[in-house]
Amino acid sequence: MKKAVYPGSFDPITKGHLDIISRAYAIVDHLTVAILENPRKHSAFTIEERLEMIRRCTKDYPKVEVDYFSGLLIDYVKRKGISVIIKGLRAISDFEFEFQMALVNRKLNPDVETLFMMTNSKYSYLSSSIVKEVADFGGDFRKLVPKEVYQLIANKFPQNE
Ligand SMILES: Nc1ncnc2c1ncn2[C@@H]1O[C@H](COP(=O)(O)OP(=O)(O)OP(=O)(O)O)[C@@H](O)[C@H]1O
Ligand SMILES: [Mg+2]
Repeated sequence: MKKAVYPGSFDPITKGHLDIISRAYAIVDHLTVAILENPRKHSAFTIEERLEMIRRCTKDYPKVEVDYFSGLLIDYVKRKGISVIIKGLRAISDFEFEFQMALVNRKLNPDVETLFMMTNSKYSYLSSSIVKEVADFGGDFRKLVPKEVYQLIANKFPQNE
């Protein structure tokens, strides 16, 4: 049974993330969506809020588990008995960093494979940062995020209420 992890900040989850989740779900036996708790990165949403948002968006996927971790991904993967890391790739800008991470992770544990999934062209421009930027300036970000989480995100940005 192939267990995979899709790691990220998901601050907040976007339609681009959900697209990767649903496509990865179709090819692996079990998928853990894992939020990286990174004390060095300021986040808009707490871990609990992000867990709740991802759970709402994946409620129809019984083989998806939502979790969080801190420290090295490769250590988390080992603890969980996971053998595949799923990453999404948008543009050249994602490539350089992800290429380096994949090679480091392979060095640290050659039994774990990183799989890259190309973005859906509909969402190639989309990131959590863009969602926060649009929301912060009172723009309409409804089309950028799954409908299950729109209100939770809007609540953080009073200019949208
Ligand atoms: N629109 C998208 N299409 C494909 N992959 C994506 C998309 N958005 C994010 N990803 C991938 O999802 C994973 C988690 O990304 P992350 O949580 O950093 O989101 P992000 O949208 O890049 O947020 P931020 O703006 O904070 O960097 C990464 O592998 C990233 O490449
Ligand atoms: Mg990113």
